[in-house]
Amino acid sequence: MHAKNLNPNTAGGSTPIDSVDRVIQYHVQTKHHFNRYSRSLGYLDWANQPDSFRRFDGAQLIPLPLLKPDEEPLSPTYNGMYERTGVPCQPVSLKTLSRFFEFALALSAWKKAGESEWALRSNPSSGNLHPTEGYVVLSQIHGLDLAAGLYHYAPKEHGMEQRADFQADPLARLMAAFPHNAFLFGLTSVHWREAWKYGERAFRYCNHDVGHAIGTARIAAATLGWNMVLLDGVDQDTVAMLLGTGRKEDFDGAELEHPDCLAVIWPSQHVKREMLDVKRQGVEVPLFLDAAIVKEVAAGTWHGKANRLSQEHSVHWDIIDDAAEASWKQQTPTPAIDLQGQFSSLSDALRASRTTSDAGPMAGQIIRQRRSAVSFDGKTSIAASSFFQMMQRVMPLAECSQLKRPMPWDAWPYDPVIHLLIFVHRVDGLTSGLYCLVRDSRKVSFVQQAMNPELIWSRVPGCPTDLPFYGLLEGDARKLAVQVSCHQDIAGDSAFSFGMVAEFEGTLRERGAWWYPRLFWEAGLLGQVMYLEAEAAGVRATGIGCFFDDPVHEIIGIQNLAMQSVYHFTVGGPVEDQRLQVLPPYGHLVREEVKSET
Ligand SMILES: Cc1cc2nc3c(=O)[nH]c(=O)nc-3n(C[C@H](O)[C@H](O)[C@H](O)COP(=O)(O)O)c2cc1C
Repeated sequence: MHAKNLNPNTAGGSTPIDSVDRVIQYHVQTKHHFNRYSRSLGYLDWANQPDSFRRFDGAQLIPLPLLKPDEEPLSPTYNGMYERTGVPCQPVSLKTLSRFFEFALALSAWKKAGESEWALRSNPSSGNLHPTEGYVVLSQIHGLDLAAGLYHYAPKEHGMEQRADFQADPLARLMAAFPHNAFLFGLTSVHWREAWKYGERAFRYCNHDVGHAIGTARIAAATLGWNMVLLDGVDQDTVAMLLGTGRKEDFDGAELEHPDCLAVIWPSQHVKREMLDVKRQGVEVPLFLDAAIVKEVAAGTWHGKANRLSQEHSVHWDIIDDAAEASWKQQTPTPAIDLQGQFSSLSDALRASRTTSDAGPMAGQIIRQRRSAVSFDGKTSIAASSFFQMMQRVMPLAECSQLKRPMPWDAWPYDPVIHLLIFVHRVDGLTSGLYCLVRDSRKVSFVQQAMNPELIWSRVPGCPTDLPFYGLLEGDARKLAVQVSCHQDIAGDSAFSFGMVAEFEGTLRERGAWWYPRLFWEAGLLGQVMYLEAEAAGVRATGIGCFFDDPVHEIIGIQNLAMQSVYHFTVGGPVEDQRLQVLPPYGHLVREEVKSET
């Protein structure tokens, strides 16, 4: 149904276009050029600005407790979270789900300027438009007094709306393949929210946001001692069925949600026990769901009607629907990963815990304080050691099996295909210029061949020997970085900025058009790691979705579609906008509680 399309541009409409060609066509058509931006309305239709809060009218809201930072469950230190030391494994309860959602998708603050107020969230979003919606599928879990079913997360209320009651029996059969007390986490996107402002390029931004949300969820899970892996062997019809996105009767007149992905999350200690039970024989976690059982599960009772987000849609961008349809995932290989990896990494962590210090800020503090910098001071430099630490954090250790990879890359069931083209402006001990981080050392020659042969590819003094980090060109790259980032000063006033350059056409042709959104998910996930790393290093970051595509490629001589830049980022010393007032995230709920008590 989604693999082939008739080319609307062909006379008679008879030539089918391959779905990979369709996503490539989308990509090429949505490039920004120096003399022409990707198509959008060209002005902001304020009267129809989409509501960034989806609600399902008629679905029961289960409020999650508003937890203070110093209340249980406490988060580990930021470094401990990565090293998996000092992270007690928490049971799944209303309190731990509250913490999970707080760190993954909740409001993190309100900002106020004059009469306008807008909310920020733990997950960043292009233009703060927040197309991403989050769901959990909960089976009957010991200690969690909730009916088995599908719950939609409502960030403004910090609550879970019960979208569906699922029968306990088929759901238990569905979840039996996973470790004890596992639950499913799902993400969907309302493309309209981004398309309203950004027009045709919005499909890219929605997918970046999915990647960021995969990152916030994986990191939130890690603070609770939980594991998470993306169930990317599930075909998209099955994701849609479980999350109810295809239920036209519930979206009557409301903007549809595009089903993006599902992940499974489980408290890691349960695995350890199971593995001991089976005397360390291989235990596998499937990365797919049994579609027949999902059908039985989804035959439960559904609740709620989706709210309409904009009064009117003055324009509709067909090319977004086309890209979404072409990249619809149909293949259903049935991959699985070995939990032995997790068991070994736990033992490694136990060994490491004897030597690791618990110093530094708590993970929760770093997550809560994350913000995008709106401008940088053009002065602050960072130490080379901090810079290399950030580079290490975005290395997935591709040579390891999935669960042995460092968090959050253990959630990502693919080898990395994104490499960094870095504009170094102010890193002490590093000459200003262009650098490249190849995130999979096996790919160095592929990346080199895609670029201008005259680049120098020199090893960098002081760089950790295991980091595939190379100098390409020396010189002041500040103006260039600003110019290619849609003239945004944030790309040059920072300590460094970078483009995320993806192995593009080859991977698409090899895997299929469904791979296209995953390029942006990987980039968003990487961006999320970088946002937190910047905070931990005492600086700040900002994602940059607006860049001139081909001018970036020209800098390093990329002449074809073998590699394409898909996302940019910048990190440096922020300048706060003193005119803005910052208010607590849930002051409105506390106020309402006070009101209802008086
Ligand atoms: C995919 C993506 C693209 C973004 N692109 C830009 C950009 O081009 N320029 C910019 O100033 N900020 C950009 N941002 C930052 C957002 O504006 C910011 O995340 C949003 O306003 C929410 O603020 P917060 O990150 O402080 O929560 C981008 C963020 C994301 C996630």
